[in-house]
Amino acid sequence: MEKSYPTTGKALIVERLCKSYKDTKALSGVSFIAKRGELLGYLGPNGAGKTTTINILSGLLEPDSGRAEVYRIDVAADPIGVKQRLGVVPEESNLYPELTCRNNLIYAGELYGLSKSERMSRADDLLHQFGLIDRSGKPFRSLSRGLKRRLTIAAALVHSPDVLFLDEPTAGLDVVSAMKLRSLIRDINGAGTTVLLTTHNLREASDLCTRILILIGGRIVAEGTPSEISARVSSIKRLSVGLSQQLDLSDIREACKAIKSASIDGNELKVDVLDVHDAIAQIMTYVELRGGRILSIESVAPSLEDAFISILEQHGEDGN
Ligand SMILES: Nc1ncnc2c1ncn2[C@@H]1O[C@H](COP(=O)(O)OP(=O)(O)OP(=O)(O)O)[C@@H](O)[C@H]1O
Ligand SMILES: [Mg+2]
Repeated sequence: MEKSYPTTGKALIVERLCKSYKDTKALSGVSFIAKRGELLGYLGPNGAGKTTTINILSGLLEPDSGRAEVYRIDVAADPIGVKQRLGVVPEESNLYPELTCRNNLIYAGELYGLSKSERMSRADDLLHQFGLIDRSGKPFRSLSRGLKRRLTIAAALVHSPDVLFLDEPTAGLDVVSAMKLRSLIRDINGAGTTVLLTTHNLREASDLCTRILILIGGRIVAEGTPSEISARVSSIKRLSVGLSQQLDLSDIREACKAIKSASIDGNELKVDVLDVHDAIAQIMTYVELRGGRILSIESVAPSLEDAFISILEQHGEDGN
């Protein structure tokens, strides 16, 4: 199916969404915009309201107040129009265990109103694209977790949507399966599909996302590119110190007051410090007294994970 993807303009407009489940306030005025062609990370701890937002945007759940648009279509006014524009990969797969891979895709195509010939050729295209053609006739239940995820994403793309919601697509996958899936997500976005991605893997978010929103307790508390968000924790200064030999550094924090935290990996000492000058002086004395030498000192930029933890702490969350 040929499709041209505009890369300017807004793909999602979300305005002041509020949602409570009985006495649990899940969303307290969430507003954001996703630009067309973005790969937007939607991050937050368990229970932050990510899935609730996705369910409202896909028309599965009504908000208590607020509104949303998908490609200029109002979600409340035209839920069917919105469904045509959207592909959703939920946390738990929504495919049929007993149906074959191919028939799952054909059935998904039928639900989206594709003609018989369209859905057959789309199913085969997707099976090829997702490296699943040799599993076409196998029931969905027989696939590994990684391949199940892949087919679930393929099914969400059957109607060539403009926007794809991925709710924790790599959760529970092994390293290689997760890597392959990330590469597929990059390709899907590279072909012009706007992607909203939730993940608890911050390295993944940092690698994949063009922009990130951080949601805590039903409110967006931070927004920016991965490096903009990482740069917010400028108070954390991390040093990597190469040592001439392995040393027992168990009392380093008591001895070097400028060190906030320390970890050792072979001959490499990693420290978060309050003051770089004081820390280097204290570490040199400490290492010399133990008969070692410093071979290198590097300053390491804080990661998105450092920033995320710091943002959680600022908002009184311990990350559990
Ligand atoms: N169907 C429901 N009934 C009652 N409470 C719910 C329901 N669904 C979600 N909640 C609550 O709403 C809040 C937001 O949940 P939501 O599933 O949106 O979070 P999430 O960010 O997707 O979390 P996770 O990272 O664990 O998937 C939580 O406090 C959750 O317990
Ligand atoms: Mg969720």
